[in-house]
Amino acid sequence: MELNNHFLDLKDSYLFSTVARKVREYQASHPGVKVYKLSIGDVTLPLAPVVIEAMHKAVDEMGKKETFRGYGPELGYDFLREKIQAYYKRLPVDLDLDEIIVSDGAKSDLGNILDIMSPNNKVLIPDPVYPAYVDVNIMAGRKIDTCAGNAENGFKPMPNDSYKADVIYICSPNNPTGAVYTKDELKAWVDYANKQNALIIFDAAYEAFVQDKSLPHSIFEIEGARTCALEICSFSKTAGFTGTRCGYTIVPKELKFNGISANALWNRRQSTKFNGTPYIIQRAAEAVFTDEGQKQIQANLEYYRENARIIKNALVEKGIYCVGGENSPYIWLKCPNGMKSWEFFDKLLNEKGVVGTPGAGFGENGEGFFRLTAFGDRETTIEAVKRITEIL
Ligand code: MLT
Repeated sequence: MELNNHFLDLKDSYLFSTVARKVREYQASHPGVKVYKLSIGDVTLPLAPVVIEAMHKAVDEMGKKETFRGYGPELGYDFLREKIQAYYKRLPVDLDLDEIIVSDGAKSDLGNILDIMSPNNKVLIPDPVYPAYVDVNIMAGRKIDTCAGNAENGFKPMPNDSYKADVIYICSPNNPTGAVYTKDELKAWVDYANKQNALIIFDAAYEAFVQDKSLPHSIFEIEGARTCALEICSFSKTAGFTGTRCGYTIVPKELKFNGISANALWNRRQSTKFNGTPYIIQRAAEAVFTDEGQKQIQANLEYYRENARIIKNALVEKGIYCVGGENSPYIWLKCPNGMKSWEFFDKLLNEKGVVGTPGAGFGENGEGFFRLTAFGDRETTIEAVKRITEIL
């Protein structure tokens, strides 16, 4: 018996586990001292009332013989897929129902999608980046190339013929930098992928934060994307489902490699290894798309947007270089006085009791940068910002 040795190539711990450990250690040595967390991008507002109502109703249905449901369709109930289909229509993006595959969240799909790809594929990942993209590929032993995001390109790396990639990851609005690709910029990636016969894995988890009407919410707003891209999205950041777990992946019918349909393979993978998202959760997700649901989740999103404005305005006022925060819940700032990311993290925690996420944890191009999240509660955000600006 041999274990998967590729796991030994991973860093000892996942970024957010390291941050959590450091905070635990600080709290153990400073009992009673309050810590202000703007670190992991986890929502703090409760689920919208319509979502809770839908869940209660679904729980009651599960308790009665006439309405009880056992295994659901592995790829998701039509009542939810139809709502997602209509949601895309507004962009406008036309999707077939069976191009929408419901799951228990974007993170699972981002890792699981690799099952349908050869381990020999070369992967191109922007740096800085959400660390899960890197780790899931290391686990599978894939070769990874990075393309640098930096202040010069506004943390939006662009394609370049020197890259030879089979699989490309794009997250827009970006985690961690908050940068958002324009339609023209995404078009350049789509053209590049079609030319290289490469696949784009587009992470749209933060699309609900896009306010600027000229910016794309979905890769499928871009001509040519249906032959080179799949899109992964979730209700986590849109509707506060981080602990509830529901997401979906869009795999267009035209997406084929060597004549083999990616949709058919993903469908086959999910129906073999996944028995579907719970009925109660899918009913909860469905409620997000009702008129009242949209009103309620927009109110929550607006609360986080205001947090983002509070953070960004304070940094700009202090003359700190930062990106993100307008069409994204993340604000990415340059550490003051040439400090390294973890140095700034330690200083903020030890001197001010404030926790953010060190940019270096998102890749080497993140060194010297720092990420703050707008998902905190208002009181925490205001106090944390006050404390941060005191040491800038
Ligand atoms: C983050 O803080 O980057 C996110 O919350 C992580 C995630 O969505 O899994």
